[in-house]
Amino acid sequence: MDKIIIFDTTLRDGEQAPGASLNPKEKLEIAHALSDMGVDIIEAGFPIASKGELLSVQQIAKAIKGPVICGLARAIKADIDAAHEAVKHAKHPRIHVFLATSKIHMQYKLKKAEDEILRLAVEFTKYAKRFFPDIEFSPEDASRTEREFLFQVVEAVIDAGATTVNIPDTVGYTEPAEYGCLIKAIKENVPNIDKAIISVHCHNDLGLAVANSLEAIKNGARQVECTINGIGERAGNASMEEIVMSIRTRRDIFSDVDTQIKTNSIYKVSRLVSKLTGFVVAPNKAIVGGNAFRHESGIHQDGVLKERSTYEIIKPEDVGFTGTGIVLGKHSGRHALAERLKDLGFNLTTEQLNTVSERFKALADKKKTIFDDDLISIVEDEIKQIKPVWKLEGFVTNSGTKITPTAEVELKYKNKSLSAKSSGDGPVDACFKAIDKITGIKGELQDYRIEAVTKGKDALGEVSLKLKAKGKIVTARASSTDIIESSVRAYINALNKIESL
Ligand code: KIV
Ligand code: ZN
Repeated sequence: MDKIIIFDTTLRDGEQAPGASLNPKEKLEIAHALSDMGVDIIEAGFPIASKGELLSVQQIAKAIKGPVICGLARAIKADIDAAHEAVKHAKHPRIHVFLATSKIHMQYKLKKAEDEILRLAVEFTKYAKRFFPDIEFSPEDASRTEREFLFQVVEAVIDAGATTVNIPDTVGYTEPAEYGCLIKAIKENVPNIDKAIISVHCHNDLGLAVANSLEAIKNGARQVECTINGIGERAGNASMEEIVMSIRTRRDIFSDVDTQIKTNSIYKVSRLVSKLTGFVVAPNKAIVGGNAFRHESGIHQDGVLKERSTYEIIKPEDVGFTGTGIVLGKHSGRHALAERLKDLGFNLTTEQLNTVSERFKALADKKKTIFDDDLISIVEDEIKQIKPVWKLEGFVTNSGTKITPTAEVELKYKNKSLSAKSSGDGPVDACFKAIDKITGIKGELQDYRIEAVTKGKDALGEVSLKLKAKGKIVTARASSTDIIESSVRAYINALNKIESL
């Protein structure tokens, strides 16, 4: 059985998704989750991008012991030096050097001819090799590169010391049969290819990233680059959960390969990435979408009740989807709550459990049935990595079709209660304006979404928003049965994040 190496680039290509910025604490939290789920390689960032990015990759390299920690670099000395600085403390460091090889990139972006590109590829692979034995090289836009030139570059970088050669479909242009043939052709035409692992890196511009990656595996690729929830540049990267579950589900087709991903962590990690990036997972997204395991039609429900495999090709629990079964209510004790949270993968400290328990009791007073998703939402809401500067004491709103909406908000700041009143376009807007008056921070709301966490009139409403203030952009979430309260809490969470950066 061959192992398919899972190279996760959520923290690098994933974070390049427009608007998906993560702070160093959030990146570290995701890196821990990826390591726990069995990812082989974490591409932690592009260290030359900024001092903050370098330090964040360095922090991950020092803290995460299991997976290889990789830093990305262009074929430029300063980039490789920065990547080296960032990952040198990792137990297993890797530098990933890339240089475009397609005619279109060489002519318009790099303004260099083939011989110059070949020379630079070799020179900087050798330069990176001085630091570490584990070097990956990517001929960027490989799928649109002239075949003969691609073979030449791949052979040369392997001779120069690359141990992994990655074949990116940078613009998501290729289609499965074509990409599979390309991988096969590389195996057949690059004389020293057995000295390196062939990796694939697919973008989803035509919705084919996962299909292309799977076809590449069938043709000999043994490393797959992917992201949680498929986030990434433009239409995103190949989704890790879809690749892993395709291999796991179709043992008949992928009988000779497997990954070491603990699939029952998939749902939890997907939610974490969604929460921290502010990228909501579409309900119909394969594997991790809210509807992925819901059967609505009577015929389907009947079939599933008689025999699950009639309409279910994956057991929800295999990806850690705990469904929306009724778990707890008003009379459930603290012990039952702690046990359920443990089952959901949350090991809380006593202090954290006290906070969650209080929110749980308050919710149980308003809502008869509490679902797993309600609990997850409360935990994600309450267990913040950052110390809140601003705390909500309370608010009152007044709105309707015949009056101008107004709000009065009270916040705690350094043990002092501060309050302000404001009017607005609606009660939420009035609250936000009152908060701005109290904090003196002028926030620019760039995105605001509201979603019901579970079904029913008393469902929790989860607000996710993106806020720009003090030159920083953050995403934050909060939930409550009252959507004005979720909005206010999410806004305050965002302000606290901004204060912590
Ligand atoms: O899409 C791409 O080509 C990349 C490279 C840096 C590997 O992300
Ligand atoms: Zn990419």
